[in-house]
Amino acid sequence: MADSNWFHYNKSYLTGTEDLEVQLVLVWAIRNVGNCSYARRNLIDYACRSANHDCSNFQAGYLCSCTKEYQGNPYISGGCQDVNECDLKDEYPCFDNCKNTMRSFVCSCPRGTKGNATMNDGCRKKYIFTFALKIIIGTSIGALFVVLACFGSYLLVQKTRLIKAKQRFFEQNGGLPLQQQMGSFNTTTFKIYSIEELEQATNKFSEECILNHMNVVKLLGCCFEVKVSVHVYEYISNGT
Ligand SMILES: *[C@@H]1O[C@H](CO)[C@@H](O)[C@H](O)[C@H]1NC(C)=O
Ligand SMILES: *[C@@H]1O[C@H](CO)[C@@H](O)[C@H](O)[C@H]1NC(C)=O
Ligand SMILES: *[C@@H]1O[C@H](CO)[C@@H](O)[C@H](O)[C@H]1NC(C)=O
Ligand SMILES: *[C@@H]1O[C@H](CO)[C@@H](O)[C@H](O)[C@H]1NC(C)=O
Repeated sequence: MADSNWFHYNKSYLTGTEDLEVQLVLVWAIRNVGNCSYARRNLIDYACRSANHDCSNFQAGYLCSCTKEYQGNPYISGGCQDVNECDLKDEYPCFDNCKNTMRSFVCSCPRGTKGNATMNDGCRKKYIFTFALKIIIGTSIGALFVVLACFGSYLLVQKTRLIKAKQRFFEQNGGLPLQQQMGSFNTTTFKIYSIEELEQATNKFSEECILNHMNVVKLLGCCFEVKVSVHVYEYISNGT
């Protein structure tokens, strides 16, 4: 018996003395019903017992097989098992970390490398930062810090200057002796304002905020020849 497609008759077979190795093929099918769709209607008799099986019509009957990525015996329950591709290096080459998963597998390069682990020598070391890139990034960050430091000290110097100028004007305008004499004034109604308070109150000395009203006492002038400048106002009779 031999597969008719494989066997080619040669007269020498009749006279020859050499042994002939023949590939024997047994053709069979399950034939209690004519096809898969009929077989599936009666699950008690259905011969494909394992999950993950395929059924194919064959020779007025049917045959069972495991689906792709599964292997084993489809005619018993649980017979089709997931193929562990990591154990089949010839069919599923993997030269580094192989991890079997359900129906597939993951072949990855070791830590710190990248590439194609399904090729021999496919993994290469990862160089995220080249040496030149490191130097460029390093100097850029350094330069940024220098610029920020310069800007910061510039702002600090400006602020110190402003504070000193304010202090100088305060002294020039007789602020210190006035402050000393304040003790004898009734200070619940009199106050020394800061420039920030005035800017806020007058919307930065906006033109619109100048009041000029007949009911408002006019400032006529001032005298600087004394320790503290003296302001001269309109005289208002009949009142304090
Ligand atoms: C038959 O077998 C002989 C010896 O093995 C070989 O020389 C010859 O070519 C074969 N003939 C055919 C038709 O295959
Ligand atoms: C399947 O087989 C049944 C008998 O077992 C037959 O009656 C039916 O025609 C077949 N169906 C096909 C599509 O061959
Ligand atoms: C990895 O190499 C194999 C074999 O050369 C190739 O078939 C596959 O497509 C490659 N994979 C990638 C992601 O390049
Ligand atoms: C300060 O003035 C308020 C109201 O104008 C008055 O009630 C208070 O007695 C005065 N205090 C002094 C110490 O003059």
